[in-house]
Amino acid sequence: MNIMIIGSGGREHAICWALKKSPRVTELYCAPGNGGISRLAACVDVKATDINGMVAWAKDNQMDFVMVAPDDPLAMGMVDAMEAAGIRAFGPRANAAIVEGSKAFSKELMKKYGIPTAAYEIFTDMDAALRYVEAQGAPIVVKCDGLALGKGVVVAQTVEEAKEAVINMMENKAFGEAGAKVVIEECMTGPEVTVLAFTDGKTIVPMPSSQDHKRAFDGDCGPNTGGMGAISPCPNYTAEHASICMDTIFRPTIAALNAEGRIFQGVLYFGMMLTPKGPKVVEYNARFGDPECQAVLSLLETDLLNILEACVDGTLDQVDVKFRDEASCCLVLASGGYPVSYEKGKEITGLDQVHDAVVFHAGTKLENGKYYTNGGRVLGVTATAPTLRDAVDRSYQAAEPISFEKMHFRKDIGYHILDAQ
Ligand code: AMP
Ligand code: GLY
Repeated sequence: MNIMIIGSGGREHAICWALKKSPRVTELYCAPGNGGISRLAACVDVKATDINGMVAWAKDNQMDFVMVAPDDPLAMGMVDAMEAAGIRAFGPRANAAIVEGSKAFSKELMKKYGIPTAAYEIFTDMDAALRYVEAQGAPIVVKCDGLALGKGVVVAQTVEEAKEAVINMMENKAFGEAGAKVVIEECMTGPEVTVLAFTDGKTIVPMPSSQDHKRAFDGDCGPNTGGMGAISPCPNYTAEHASICMDTIFRPTIAALNAEGRIFQGVLYFGMMLTPKGPKVVEYNARFGDPECQAVLSLLETDLLNILEACVDGTLDQVDVKFRDEASCCLVLASGGYPVSYEKGKEITGLDQVHDAVVFHAGTKLENGKYYTNGGRVLGVTATAPTLRDAVDRSYQAAEPISFEKMHFRKDIGYHILDAQ
């Protein structure tokens, strides 16, 4: 089969790596891809958000199956457009991808169907939002409604900070139209966990839990990033949590979306907090998280193509989805200054000396046989082992020979959580 993956990060490299193991994949393409991906798949120079360009390319080149990985093309209807052109495509259609595209939509869905989440109100009027913040007091959480590259959330410790966030989003339009509407919600406490789940709109199959490390610096300090590393499974998430989440969150979310006529087929991302009152949803995403995807897919045993096709065909109940009963760690090596400002084009050395880990490329380019940095997150050094501590140790050891100018990484990925146990 001719398969095309849309996207260009570590997540897409991990997806290509997993698909490459399938005996049924004959030709693998990735658009636009990156330096590391180009070793596994033919990279296609079309932007991930160029819906028409992508559909035309897929048609002209006879793709049998397309997997749309990032949020923007999903929200823009890339899957709908592929289907309209007669191409089988994995990922939710735009009307279901809205669970990520609009926080207000998700909150209303959860309220309507009794899915546990933080109490909240939605505002389009700034003065009303400011009055609500005053009345509720702090800590309180302010979120802009739309997609804001993971940066449109402020967990405010004081009323002043919360009001500043409201003004920044609604008056100063710091996130453009994404902030025209804001969600203000109760501040929850407890460990955070991510569960990614495959679904065909009927059956839902949770993958092993995982945990991202969103802040730039050790000890969860500094600005929010796309994710500086991930571990799987998350030690805080017990079998009891898994059972409660299945009954109160996972199945009810699929049922709620079906009842609204928004059938979700793809990977549904449950960002949750294990609060003293039980697990509650922080956010949904309509796709694999990154770097969580790199950690989780490293443990997958089943042929990924079989799973993806079953999600599209509505036959997920017939696939025995298996993961190795081990642990994994993805350590992100980033450009110095990320996520604020950073330079690109630095030569990466030492990749050929890495042992016992897979290095997924997030932002690299390949020129004359040499790799150069080409983004904020550059590499995801991913190792597996029978225990989480060994997987984490292994990732750090594997990363040792790798270097590029101003390389930055957290020293406490995984350890931060293990040491708190
Ligand atoms: P989100 O983009 O909605 O996932 O929010 C980003 C981060 O903000 C989450 O990973 C949490 O750490 C934090 N956060 C979001 N909502 C809440 C909440 N209601 N209470 C406490 N922390 C939150
Ligand atoms: N790592 C968080 C995300 O992909 O949204």
